[in-house]
Amino acid sequence: MTTTTEPPATTTAQSLTLTDLVKTYTARGRESFAAVKGINLDIAPGELVALLGPSGCGKTTTLRMIAGLETVTSGSIKIGDREVSQLPAAKRGIGVGFESYALYPPLSVRDNLLYGLKARKVKGAEQMVGSISARLEMDDLLELRPAGLSSGQKQRVALARALVRNPPVLLLDEPLSHLDAAARQRVRRELKILQREFGYTTIVVTHDQVEALSLADRLAVMDAGVVQQFGTPDEVFDDPANLFVAQFVGEPAINVVRGVVRTSGGTTRVEIGSRAGHLETTATDVPDGTEVTVGVRPQDCVLSTDAAGAGGISVTVAYFEHLLEFGLATTTVAGMEEGIVVQTPAQDSFEPEQQVVVTAPPERVYLFDTDTGQRLR
Ligand SMILES: Nc1ncnc2c1ncn2[C@@H]1O[C@H](COP(=O)(O)OP(=O)(O)OP(=O)(O)O)[C@@H](O)[C@H]1O
Ligand SMILES: [Mg+2]
Repeated sequence: MTTTTEPPATTTAQSLTLTDLVKTYTARGRESFAAVKGINLDIAPGELVALLGPSGCGKTTTLRMIAGLETVTSGSIKIGDREVSQLPAAKRGIGVGFESYALYPPLSVRDNLLYGLKARKVKGAEQMVGSISARLEMDDLLELRPAGLSSGQKQRVALARALVRNPPVLLLDEPLSHLDAAARQRVRRELKILQREFGYTTIVVTHDQVEALSLADRLAVMDAGVVQQFGTPDEVFDDPANLFVAQFVGEPAINVVRGVVRTSGGTTRVEIGSRAGHLETTATDVPDGTEVTVGVRPQDCVLSTDAAGAGGISVTVAYFEHLLEFGLATTTVAGMEEGIVVQTPAQDSFEPEQQVVVTAPPERVYLFDTDTGQRLR
């Protein structure tokens, strides 16, 4: 008998590749509806990818297709070199943590977790269940029956059940959404550590940016059935592919204002508002006079009390909030409906009606096509 809680040696991390994956729902008497419109994702063995996007954008549909719980309209799903899109769910070797409440009622939590492991005669099953339960802070739940569990407890049991199966590919749909804030943070950390140790190739769906940013090696930001950008958290935050991604990722939200491009002597600037001023940008391929949408993050803006000489936008402070680690100044710009929000250092303070100047590093001033939202570089 073995006493180890090491993953079975049979499991090695596998890549997961989605190619042109499409799901169109058709219902009699209804127009067909494209929930997933051609997704391409190349996920490395052992990588943790967070799928982030607004409600209804196709996240769950994508996971259900990978798991084999939903048919694929077209496209390919590969685990390693193996095409699995036409295989039944049980043959795919995927662990699924989103049938949150599909536990067997007559069995204790412990037996629910052991179920399947015993059938497969997995060595060290008891130890594995014990160790994972302890790490997810649920060893006090092991002797209970599912009916008596709160939704947060059920969710941890579902997560544990997916983890003990030690699948090469793990899919988790909002695995922590019912936990309270403190438990959520601790379980999130434990999940990340377990994922690293065991090397599951993992996709986690979440609504929560902080969760996505803290867990993920890479983020896939989705909207309307399409992956808008796939990159590391830094790439997505620092170099958004389009206006949707820029606005979806980041807290407080990115400032979005209209501007007109002015090029002269090798520099590009965007004029903001009526004579309020301008910001310099590193974008080079946008012709003089183009009307654009400008994005600049509150964290990248700097407020100063100097007059707008060399650059910057003259603004008026409308509202100033002291938040523990920083301040937030909400400002108005002459001739514009949109204001600009600036995150300021904790020690700074501004008064309503104060006239100040906003500047930002040129590489952090993003331009977007006003019609399509695509980034202009
Ligand atoms: N069985 C179905 N028949 C028809 N339409 C469906 C079906 N399942 C999902 N949809 C539609 O497909 C779209 C994507 O749904 P999905 O559940 O994948 O979204 P989601 O990104 O997971 O959203 P949420 O964040 O709210 O969970 C939605 O518009 C939804 O109404
Ligand atoms: Mg969903």
